[in-house]
Amino acid sequence: MATINQHYWNLKESYLFSEIAHRVNAYQAAHPDAHIIRMGIGDVTLPLPPAVIEAMHKAVDEMAHAETFRGYGPEQGYDFLKDAVKGYYEKKGVELQPDEIFISDGAKSDLGNILDILGLDNTVLVTDPVYPVYVDTNKMSGRSIFFAQATEQNGFLPLPDPHLTADIIYLCSPNNPTGAVYNREQLKMWVDFANQNESILLFDAAYEAFVSEDLPRSIYEIEGAKTCAIEFCSFSKTAGFTGTRCGYTVVPLDLIRQETSLNKLWLRRQTTKFNGVPYIVQRGAAAVFSPEGQKQVQENIDYYRRNAKVITDTLDKLGIWYTGGKNSPYIWLKCPRSMDSWSFFDFLLEKANVVGTPGQGFGQCGEGYFRLTAFSSHELTQKAMDRLYSILR
Ligand code: MLT
Repeated sequence: MATINQHYWNLKESYLFSEIAHRVNAYQAAHPDAHIIRMGIGDVTLPLPPAVIEAMHKAVDEMAHAETFRGYGPEQGYDFLKDAVKGYYEKKGVELQPDEIFISDGAKSDLGNILDILGLDNTVLVTDPVYPVYVDTNKMSGRSIFFAQATEQNGFLPLPDPHLTADIIYLCSPNNPTGAVYNREQLKMWVDFANQNESILLFDAAYEAFVSEDLPRSIYEIEGAKTCAIEFCSFSKTAGFTGTRCGYTVVPLDLIRQETSLNKLWLRRQTTKFNGVPYIVQRGAAAVFSPEGQKQVQENIDYYRRNAKVITDTLDKLGIWYTGGKNSPYIWLKCPRSMDSWSFFDFLLEKANVVGTPGQGFGQCGEGYFRLTAFSSHELTQKAMDRLYSILR
């Protein structure tokens, strides 16, 4: 008899955002006239920037002619896109080798897939609250997970604790879900800690483009990071690729464990299990780094920032505590009237037809908090905040 991976029994029945979608769909079915505004999952609403569309159209035409048609591409990505990513890092003062950059179909897949090259007996440290992918993917392979508490007291930015070490450490900055961002000194503490313990830092930089203050946007801005950290990044939130799918992972050549190059292992894994991102999509992604593309992406980010301001202005008026929104598309607020996260979710859905994400869904330390995203349209963000104001004032 075939057996199954029984670690799946340790997972919650459904992934957080599937659970929310399920509840919202059930509510909509029962209230067909309700105009629900979705500020739950961090999905973008602005279309792909014109520079991206233009590059993709051109690539489609290339695929139509035998002379320019492309079949299998390099599993780790085309040079034109890797060079563009390299140039982007140079602007942040980070020097990378092209071979250290791996183009993928997004940060979420790579954050899960990277575990293929790490030992099953590794222990894992995540912050709580946490992006559920880090926890669920490790539960799927049966690893032991420890939680570093992120609280209002530590600004939702836990620092290394010598009593809480692990082989694999996840950091997300700007943070999903709290919007908190580590500064250079704090990240240096994590890098030193990881190097001392020979741990590996898995650094999720998916929201780096939202940093507006003088804060680090890559772990490699920190000295020593190349011997302990792998960085994951994505075009999803920056350039609207949530449905188009493209991201990149940096595995430094200097990252060695058990006398083995993690870069070589990842290359081996990718060439075996992955056929690369479609040429058309990679051409679109490369256009993000053109001067035009950068300008257009910045305009989109500014648009979402203005939404964040609409949200935080409303919370200010209501006297509700929050963090995030400044260097991040997420606003993390304290549930009003001492409601717990899911009660506030139901309250907001029923009374205002607005959907957010209950903090508890990101971990126990998220209980009593709630996440709103700035990714909706201006019009709907304003409407949602008017509704929020009218039920809570
Ligand atoms: C979120 O809402 O946390 C994100 O959209 C999830 C993701 O990027 O996978």
